[in-house]
Amino acid sequence: MLFEEYQYFNYQFPEPQYLGAKHTLLPWINQFIPKNVSTAIDAFAGSQSVSYLFKQLGFKTITNDFLNFNNQIGLSLIENKKIKLTKDDLQLLFQPSKSKDAFDLIENTFTEVFFEKSEATFLDNFRANIPLLDNLYKQALAFTVINRSMTRKITMGHFGHTQALVYASNPERIKRNRSLVRPIKEIFEEILPKYNNAIFDNKRENQSYNQNILELLPNIKNIDLAYFDPPYCDSHADYQGFYHLLETYTEYWKDKEFVNGIKRYEPQRVSGFDKKRDVIASFEKLFGLSEEIPHWLISYNNRSYPGIEEFEKLISKYRDVKVEVKTYQNGRGGKGSVAGSQEILFVCNPKKKHFVSTNHKEQLIDERF
Ligand SMILES: C[S@@+](CC[C@H](N)C(=O)[O-])C[C@H]1O[C@@H](n2cnc3c(N)ncnc32)[C@H](O)[C@@H]1O
Repeated sequence: MLFEEYQYFNYQFPEPQYLGAKHTLLPWINQFIPKNVSTAIDAFAGSQSVSYLFKQLGFKTITNDFLNFNNQIGLSLIENKKIKLTKDDLQLLFQPSKSKDAFDLIENTFTEVFFEKSEATFLDNFRANIPLLDNLYKQALAFTVINRSMTRKITMGHFGHTQALVYASNPERIKRNRSLVRPIKEIFEEILPKYNNAIFDNKRENQSYNQNILELLPNIKNIDLAYFDPPYCDSHADYQGFYHLLETYTEYWKDKEFVNGIKRYEPQRVSGFDKKRDVIASFEKLFGLSEEIPHWLISYNNRSYPGIEEFEKLISKYRDVKVEVKTYQNGRGGKGSVAGSQEILFVCNPKKKHFVSTNHKEQLIDERF
């Protein structure tokens, strides 16, 4: 590797807490990134861990997730070149809001579900102040850090359960994890420097999108590498069930119902990749739309639907594919990563063309037919 390829590796991606996040697998994935990539897309970016690696590698990085709270991470850490949150910004964010009456969604919906009343009203007040920040990247950074603070505070780091307040009053649990009883403001102030320090300029015009990937791809051109890390269908695919609170906080929905014990929003966004009945058709469409992107890396898991062999067959209609496997020794890799389960990477490259000589005329045969 040349010196220039290392120049952004002093920056550190703040550790995420997100099901299926790939931050612990980055050195493994990095080995399979082809040479001479200039522009790469992280199509299902989640915590943005792979986008961050792309940015560090100096690629023009296009990142996308259909959930807006993930897009805010993309705006603040991937697209953003230098804007940070200052002391003055914090004063503005923590000040008593003048539009308090219009901001009571968290208090009304989540008090005694995930938070005590005082924490819920703190969150509403902070949310009311975010639009006062005069810069899109500052706003995105405020969302990124407050959302991360919420996952720190709530037991298990997701919102698909109703045990938050039960665990937060259990001395044994508190001993193991002090964050359960710490004020969100304190957590925010502690982790903000990690995010501020992670912002850098890789001298490329990186972009963060918030779309269904099947709608975004037709509008994106000149990509060398696509990284696909879709929800693992049949094995923890319900991101809107696990992280509904972060999306509700970011969107501050006015037009949704809040259902079940966890107060998940309804109706949900349509993914196309999280239900067995849709997933094959969605992959066909995804691969069809990616025909012009030469290299694809696809993360997968041996507990997902469709199974590895069927999925490999599906991919090989479009690309030459090699299957790389990493076995988890313990369950620390996130979603679907119980001990013994396998992380799969499909390494996909353009099909090799065969030249067959017939009657002295060379004919090009595409292996697909
Ligand atoms: C396995 S996670 C990605 C994890 C990510 N690589 C990381 O390191 O954090 C899958 C992501 O796909 C997103 N997603 C699901 N359906 C989508 C769609 N149709 N278009 C774009 N993103 C989608 C989910 O919100 C989720 O964040």
